[in-house]
Amino acid sequence: MKNKSLVTITDFSKEEYLRILEVAAEFEANSYQNLLNGQVVGVLFFEPSTRTRLSFESAINRLGGRVIGFTDSATSSVTKGETLNDTIRVVTNYCELIVMRHPLEGSVRYASEIANVPVINAGDGSNQHPTQTLLDLYSIQKTQGKLNDLNIFLVGDLKYGRTVHSLLMALSEFNATFYFISPDELRMPDEYKMYLEELGLKYYESTELDDNMKNADIIYMTRVQKERFSDPIEYERTKNAYVLKNHMLEGTRDNMRVLHPLPRVNEIHTSVDSNPKAYYFQQTENGVYVRQAIIALMLGLK
Ligand code: CP
Repeated sequence: MKNKSLVTITDFSKEEYLRILEVAAEFEANSYQNLLNGQVVGVLFFEPSTRTRLSFESAINRLGGRVIGFTDSATSSVTKGETLNDTIRVVTNYCELIVMRHPLEGSVRYASEIANVPVINAGDGSNQHPTQTLLDLYSIQKTQGKLNDLNIFLVGDLKYGRTVHSLLMALSEFNATFYFISPDELRMPDEYKMYLEELGLKYYESTELDDNMKNADIIYMTRVQKERFSDPIEYERTKNAYVLKNHMLEGTRDNMRVLHPLPRVNEIHTSVDSNPKAYYFQQTENGVYVRQAIIALMLGLK
C-alpha cells in the first residue's frame, strides 16, 4: 500500500482491505497518534461534501498533520481557466498526499498519473468511492462479526450511486449474495453485473423492497443522485421510490443493520433513526478511524 494511490477499490487487494480494517480498529481504540508530525495533506474538493471531507480532515488532525486545499473549486484558479493537469502539478509540490473529489469519472485516475505523491479518490462522479467502501466494510465487520457469506441488499440509485459500485467490487471478495432493489431507470449497470457473473457470484434484481428483506444481513440504502440526472423529470419520478419505515423492518434478522453512506433525503424515515437496526450514524464515525488507517498505511507510518 505504501506510496500507492487509491483510485478504485481494486487498487488494493483483499489482504490490504483486511489490514486497513485491523489498523482502523487500533485507531478506534486510540485515535490521537502524532504519526504525521506536521506533514501536509492536500484536500481538493471540486464537488460538495460533508462526511468525506470533514472525516478526512479530522483524521489528518488526529494524526498530527496539517490540511491545505479547497472545499469549492470556485475559490481556486480553476475559475480562471486553469486545467486539472496544472492544478495537480502545482499542489503536488505543496503536500505529501492528495485527497480529491471531482464530478468527472476518471478525473482522479488522471490526477494520480500526474501527481508525484499518492492520491486518494474521495469520489469521482458516479464511478467509485473507495474510502467509503472501506468504512462500509469496517461497519459490516463490526456489526456482523464477519465479512464472508452475507446477504447484501443494495437499495435506491444503483446506476449513479458510486458507493454501491465500489462496495459490490469489494464484497465480491467475500462471497456475498447481492439483492439489487431499484427503479427500472436506476438499475445496477451491466458492467457490474457482468463482474459478478464472471466471478460466479449470485445476484437478484427487483423493483420492490419485499419479503426477501427477511434474509438480509445488511440493507444498504442510497439517495437518488439528483446532481447526476440530465432529465429533471426522471429525477422527480424516481426520487421517492423507496422510503424505509420501521414497520418494514419487522421480521428482519435480529442482527441485520441498515447502512447508508449519507446524505439522506427521504429514503429512510427519521423514525427509523432510533431503531436498534439503524447503524448509519455510527457508520459515519467509523469513517474517521478507517481514513486514519488508510493515510497511515499509504504513507508507510504503520
Ligand atoms: N458519504 C459521502 O460521501 O458523504 P459526503 O458527500 O457528505 O462526503
